[in-house]
Amino acid sequence: MIVVEKLCKSFDGNNILTDISTQFEKGKTNLIIGQSGSGKTVLLKCILGLYGIDSGNIFFENRSLQKMDSKERSILRQEMGMVFQGSALFDSMTVEENIMFPMRMLTQKSPDEMLSRANEVINRVNLVNSNRKLPSEISGGMQKRVAIARAVVMNPKYLFCDEPNSGLDPKTSTLIDNLIQEITKEYQITTVINTHDMNSVIEIGEKVLFLEDGRKGWEGSNREVFKTENESVGNFIYSSDLFKKVRKVYLEEN
Ligand SMILES: Nc1ncnc2c1ncn2[C@@H]1O[C@H](COP(=O)(O)OP(=O)(O)O)[C@@H](O)[C@H]1O
Ligand SMILES: [Mg+2]
Repeated sequence: MIVVEKLCKSFDGNNILTDISTQFEKGKTNLIIGQSGSGKTVLLKCILGLYGIDSGNIFFENRSLQKMDSKERSILRQEMGMVFQGSALFDSMTVEENIMFPMRMLTQKSPDEMLSRANEVINRVNLVNSNRKLPSEISGGMQKRVAIARAVVMNPKYLFCDEPNSGLDPKTSTLIDNLIQEITKEYQITTVINTHDMNSVIEIGEKVLFLEDGRKGWEGSNREVFKTENESVGNFIYSSDLFKKVRKVYLEEN
């Protein structure tokens, strides 16, 4: 579990995140939603420890990120997997090399051990027969699978995904969402996903944090979001036609 307490973050005197308190639970896909520029990426980077914060606290289980020394931080870093926007694969490395990269950097495993672990995750994300391919030789959806495999190869306790569906068609997006959710359950990871994809909210929004101008505008589950009378999250969500239709069906059935 990750607990965020009264987090404030500014850049050059401009408040970007103000007084954010929330929790992300273990074994769940926790979503951060909000308009472009609302602070989703900055919040994720604060949690990752890539940006320092002005005030507040971030706890991983009961460990305060603010109080960690560099050794504790490096242990925490090894417990984190990340899938960044646009996959961020190394173009000149094969699928297999991309996936082995974190083990090369952070462990003393032998080449055989690394290869065997890489193949386990390659199987898990259904990428068999692509080991020797370059990112440019596989589809966007497959590139995301490689990014996910690389993010989980070290068995992370925490998984962070920034807009994992950007650039994917709706069907592939759903497959990727489902894969992230399955892996989250299987390995009981605390997963945090930034998205503005309403399909993801419906599919995997077990917990949804809505950011509005860097503040917490609303939080709840994807079931509650249909029923909320909070105007801001309503306006944001019902800007999607599909969501309007789903809501209508849902309200008729309940
Ligand atoms: N490194 C930075 N320095 C200064 N301002 C930043 C930086 N990163 C993001 N911002 C600002 O913070 C706000 C939130 O950005 P971001 O978290 O990227 O939004 P989102 O991911 O929700 O689209 C934006 O106004 C953006 O310009
Ligand atoms: Mg962003």
